[in-house]
Amino acid sequence: MTAELSERIGRIRFSSTMETAARADELRRRGVDVVDLSVGEPDFPTPEHVKEAAIRAIRADFTRYTPAAGIPELREAVCARHAADFGTRYEVPECVITAGGKHAVFNFIQTLVNPGDEVIIPAPYWVTYRDAVLLAGGRPIVVPTEPAEGFTLRAEEVRKRVSDATRMLILNFPNNPSGALLDSGEAARLVELAVGCGFWILSDECYANLVYEGEPFSVASVPGAASVVLVAGSLSKTYAMTGWRIGYGLGPRHVIEGCIRLQSHSTSNPNSVAQKAALEALRGPQDCVAAMREEYRWRRDRVIARLRRMPGVTVHSPGGAFYAFPGIGAWLEDGRFPSSAAFAERLLEEVRVACVPGEAFGAPGHLRFSLAASRQALEEGLDRIEAFLARLAR
Ligand SMILES: Cc1ncc(COP(=O)(O)O)c(C=O)c1O
Repeated sequence: MTAELSERIGRIRFSSTMETAARADELRRRGVDVVDLSVGEPDFPTPEHVKEAAIRAIRADFTRYTPAAGIPELREAVCARHAADFGTRYEVPECVITAGGKHAVFNFIQTLVNPGDEVIIPAPYWVTYRDAVLLAGGRPIVVPTEPAEGFTLRAEEVRKRVSDATRMLILNFPNNPSGALLDSGEAARLVELAVGCGFWILSDECYANLVYEGEPFSVASVPGAASVVLVAGSLSKTYAMTGWRIGYGLGPRHVIEGCIRLQSHSTSNPNSVAQKAALEALRGPQDCVAAMREEYRWRRDRVIARLRRMPGVTVHSPGGAFYAFPGIGAWLEDGRFPSSAAFAERLLEEVRVACVPGEAFGAPGHLRFSLAASRQALEEGLDRIEAFLARLAR
């Protein structure tokens, strides 16, 4: 037997955000006082009524296999919530419940991307898209966006990258890591382009309910979107349910049917108890979502105001999600740091603040700080960064 792994697995790397988090965790276990601003995980507990629903499910012995696609009432609840939040009209056969949003992204890419297909990915991008496309044998085509424009995506920039081999465009707004939102006019132009050129739009809406400017928006609500848009959604961030692993996919029946087929041979159903918890999260009171959003907004305003006062740091205010993504290009210019990755490394070594360097997201020269940490941790982290920069400036 050979020790070689498959050629497929050789194409992908371990998730760099998970790697940074693991590193911070290891330091903490060794007793080092680390301020971890690397993880994109709500610091809030799962709401009480959601936890109670799970406890009830266990007591009622709801502990067996469910259909691979998820329980019908949860599929129905996902469609109803998406309709209420974004004005879409999905029906149960157009919905699949997955083990988290990442699983929905993975299943859509496996279901639709053939070897050699091109997949357009705007940068900065969430780390998983590239690797998921590579695993399927596809070719990631990266479209840069401009820091000076708050990393907003222009349909025109996408159009320039469309070729005969284009199979999919991946959108993620609010964006991780930049917090950028998608303008509704640009969204309509992208849908028109996708319909005209015959490619899919995979819309990762993991942060769709965490919007601070204007109304939450889904590209799936654009007229004509139903035939080309696929939605990957998640309860992880919206309801502070990262560990429960519940997400969903929405899209045309035949594509969802393909995803279910894949699920039937891989994960089978998502966790039965977590499905009952998710049902309560979607159907129950939504004030917990608003309360968490307001806390993130407070943190955003505080962190951005403090970062803006720091030397050599430029930052725009994120319109959604829960990350600050400042540029530190001025500190790289004199050659003291070869990259933002080296800068992040020194930040961790010298002042014990963990963050994710922009290279992980295809946007070197930046750092991503998570706002999903307590106010105290954020203030302490910012104090340390300030002290670090003051020493560098001397
Ligand atoms: C943009 C984006 N999509 C999807 C996910 C996956 O979320 P989950 O699999 O926990 O639902 C994340 C998590 O960090 C994310 O940032």
